[in-house]
Order: sequence, then structure tokens, then C-alpha cells
Amino acid sequence: MSERAGSRLPHVLLKAWHAWLAGAFLVAYVTAGEDTYAMHQFAGYAVLAAVVVRFLAGLAAPAGSPWRPPRPGLRASLAWLSTRKGRHPLFAWFAALLLVVIGLAAVTGALADGVAAWLEHPHEAIAEVSLWAIVGHITFVTWMYAGRKWIGRLMSWFASLRLSILPRETLR
Ligand code: HEM
Ligand code: HEM
Repeated sequence: MSERAGSRLPHVLLKAWHAWLAGAFLVAYVTAGEDTYAMHQFAGYAVLAAVVVRFLAGLAAPAGSPWRPPRPGLRASLAWLSTRKGRHPLFAWFAALLLVVIGLAAVTGALADGVAAWLEHPHEAIAEVSLWAIVGHITFVTWMYAGRKWIGRLMSWFASLRLSILPRETLR
């Protein structure tokens, strides 16, 4: 394998893992009900397995790997606010928040299924919170990767429109 292909592999695997987590979560969420409980159980355990795999891979990942665990920090976030240089700190905050809250939703589901039926209500509540964290995550990544570009394009389109309607003399 070439060096380039080798360095891309962890990124590709992380994307595959993301699809596994997101797909299983969505199935678990939409099948959460008595009629589709078997599917809910299957998808829920698939979420739990994905979070465990991420945790173990994070422990084993070498420096510089995309599999290193996200490490949000208050001091680094405040420093970023004043310089605005480097990666937006919300990437790491969102990744950590999602892994914790989704992990809790899956663990409480597994416990409610087995040893602690009283966890059913906390499980439902955490699952709802995790859905909102995911909505926030999707909004944030869409904004960071696409939204700013669209706004830039829209602004330059407006600027060209304003210039084209000005009388020609004022342009000189
Ligand atoms: C349209 C839907 C989605 C898009 C476009 C999306 C996009 C992304 C992107 C671009 C990243 C990498 C962010 C970075 O550069 O650090 C990411 C990370 C992540 N996403 Fe999503 N995502 C989506 C849905 C979901 C869903 C449904 C879940 C959970 C069930 C989820 C959970 C996560 C987690 C936990 C991470 C952090 C990965 C890690 O470093 O461990 N995402 N997502
Ligand atoms: C992150 C993954 C999961 C999500 C998003 C999720 C979501 C939910 C939601 C929203 C409910 C409420 C359903 C209702 O309206 O009554 C629920 C119920 C439940 N879930 Fe999960 N769940 C997940 C994982 C699991 C796992 C791994 C198990 C283990 C088998 C599990 C077992 C249960 C049980 C026992 C209930 C109560 C069922 C009932 O009242 O009929 N869940 N889940």
C-alpha cells in the first residue's frame, strides 16, 4: 500500500464508523416503541457497540490520528475566541458531547432491558436529549462546511447586482 493510501485509511475508517453510528442511532430512534422492540434492541446495541469501538480505538490511536479522542478545553476555546486561528473548538466540544450523551442513551437502554427496569424513563429522556445534540451537530457541521460558503457567494452576488445597477459614471 502506498504511503498516501495508508494515511487516508484511518479517515476512511472513521467515516465508515460514523455511518455505522448515525445509521444505527436513527434506526434505534425510529423503532423505539413496543411494536418494533426487537429492531430497537438490535439497533440500540449496534449504537452501544459503535461507542465502545470508538472508545477502544481512541485509547489505541497514535498521535496525529483522527481516531484520537476529542479533547475540548476551556482555556484553548477562550484563546481561540480571541485569535480565531486554528480549528473551531466547537468541533471537539460537539464530538465529546455526542459520544457521552449517545453512550449514556445506549447504556441506560441496555440496563433498562436487563437489570434495572427503573431506568426506562431516564433512558427515554437521555435519548431525547441526544437527538437534540445531534440536531445541533448537523446544524453546526452544515454551517461550517457549506453555510459560510453559500453566504459568501450570496454576498458577492448582491455586490455584483449593486454594481450593475449603478449608473456607469459612478463606477469610474
Ligand atoms: C447529515 C448528517 C450528518 C452529517 C453531515 C455529519 C457530519 C459530521 C462531520 C463532518 C463530522 C466530523 C467533524 C470534524 O471534522 O471534527 C462528524 C463527527 C461526528 N458525528 Fe456526525 N454528521 C451527521 C450525523 C450524525 C449523527 C446522526 C450522529 C450520531 C448518531 C453523528 C455523530 C457524530 C460524532 C459522535 C462525531 C465525532 C466523531 C469523532 O471524532 O469521534 N453525526 N459528523
Ligand atoms: C442510543 C440508542 C438508543 C436510542 C436513541 C433509544 C431511544 C429510545 C426511546 C426514544 C425510547 C422511548 C420509546 C417510547 O416512546 O416508549 C426507548 C425506550 C426503550 N429502549 Fe431504547 N434507545 C436506544 C438504545 C437502547 C438499547 C441498547 C436498549 C437495550 C435493549 C434499549 C431498550 C429500551 C427499552 C427497554 C425501552 C422501553 C420500552 C417501552 O417502554 O416499551 N434502548 N428507547
